[in-house]
Amino acid sequence: IKPKPTVFTIFGGTGDLAARKLIPALYNLYLDGYMPAKFTIVGLGRTDYDNQKFREILLDGINKFSRSGKADAAKWKVFSSCIQYLQSDAKKDKTYQDLEAIIKEKDQEWGEESNIIHYLSVAPQFFPIISKGVATINIENKEQRNRIVIEKPFGHDLDSAKELNKLLQSLFDETQIYRIDHYLGKETVQNMMAFRFANALFEPIWNRNYIEHVQISVTEDIGVEDRGGYYDGSGALKDMVQNHILQVLCLVAMEPPVSFNADEVRNRRVDVLRAIRKFGHEEVKHNTVRGQYASGWVAGEEVLGYREEKGVDPNSNTETFAALKFFIDNWRWQNVPFYVRTGKRMHQKASVISIQFKDVPHPIFPIEASESWQQNRLIISIQPEMSIRLQVQAKRPGLDMILNPVDMVFNYDGTYPAESPEAYETLLLDVMEGDQTLFMRADQIEAAWELLMPVVENWESRKSINFPNYAADSWGPEIAEALIAKDGFHWFTMP
Ligand code: BG6
Repeated sequence: IKPKPTVFTIFGGTGDLAARKLIPALYNLYLDGYMPAKFTIVGLGRTDYDNQKFREILLDGINKFSRSGKADAAKWKVFSSCIQYLQSDAKKDKTYQDLEAIIKEKDQEWGEESNIIHYLSVAPQFFPIISKGVATINIENKEQRNRIVIEKPFGHDLDSAKELNKLLQSLFDETQIYRIDHYLGKETVQNMMAFRFANALFEPIWNRNYIEHVQISVTEDIGVEDRGGYYDGSGALKDMVQNHILQVLCLVAMEPPVSFNADEVRNRRVDVLRAIRKFGHEEVKHNTVRGQYASGWVAGEEVLGYREEKGVDPNSNTETFAALKFFIDNWRWQNVPFYVRTGKRMHQKASVISIQFKDVPHPIFPIEASESWQQNRLIISIQPEMSIRLQVQAKRPGLDMILNPVDMVFNYDGTYPAESPEAYETLLLDVMEGDQTLFMRADQIEAAWELLMPVVENWESRKSINFPNYAADSWGPEIAEALIAKDGFHWFTMP
């Protein structure tokens, strides 16, 4: 069933996200037949463009960034005829009056009421003014028709997140608010639910009796690129852990929901956040590590250290790497450590979940038989490789009894010939269809902030640290290895 006719407004229409992700996602949804039969996309921005110029810029974005490659001329012509530009200032009432006129005109033209999606792809200081502005748009059946999508960062600490939630909830019903975390739209992340709850095989061993520890590692090889200004006020903990990594952790650790209903699933995710052991001073000291990259060489080219990047304070103590050890205090996970790490300018771009099972209770093979003994491990690779590997011990062929680990592999590439949709395609379609399962509810956002605030505050209060402390193209600071090695484990890296 196609979604209802839709007016899709993009505040920040001339920005990077619109050109790189949002418009290519909508275009690919259109190519695959998922866009509503009647839709219009209104890009808002301050720059003086006309429709033609705006469309040219978006076409350029598609040609560069769309997974389906260069746009097809005939299809682009039809699709782009549904895009218009509204030169506007978010602070002025006129902007919202103009939008009201567009919506009313479309209602008339289409002969039915459309859904209206306001996508706030702007700096967070504009969230309040735009939310208030769109709430003034005077149309019939507002509550049923209006949806608002908020990009990250959702707050910069617990108080600001609460304040933003309060404002949004005074203007809209929670069912109208879509707080986006693009990791939840990734194919492999979504598969986590299917893998766990559509198979009888794994759930019985998915607990403290069989699992020794869990790792979630999201490493990037790029530096901060041209986002130094934003990043320097944020850092790895707020940029990646508070949102993406904690959401992935929730999917790994959650209890089975009663159904796939949005609130059932979100209830179980927030339960995990609430069960995570609080960080006191001692936990921050022993269970967290931060780092910042120095200059170095990547693929034969010299790259800048973080403090030399554009927009970054030359004495910055913002972390570009964070590693933490969590415990989840409930029956399923008592005393199972969850190690997470993320960093920029690291040796490999890879987002990987590694679940290590406990060793066999009694070894029957002589020690010499095990060439490279490896406890069973389940490796879920989110990106760039999209795969699930189960590592098991096997006998190597031959006359001697020699064991070594082998992988049973499910690789998306080999299994599904069609390319997977991008996270934004999944999420934008969900907004159009009114499905909030993959979006964050107010309580989830606040629980994640609440959990990390002691770490944020502790790190901010202890500014004089030895930064930079890891070289570009490395695996992060040495103390990050120590964090996990002291428990007898090592960070898993993709081969
Ligand atoms: C964003 C962060 O949310 O996620 C970026 O702000 C980061 O700093 C990006 O690079 C990573 O997303 P992906 O999809 O490339 O893993």
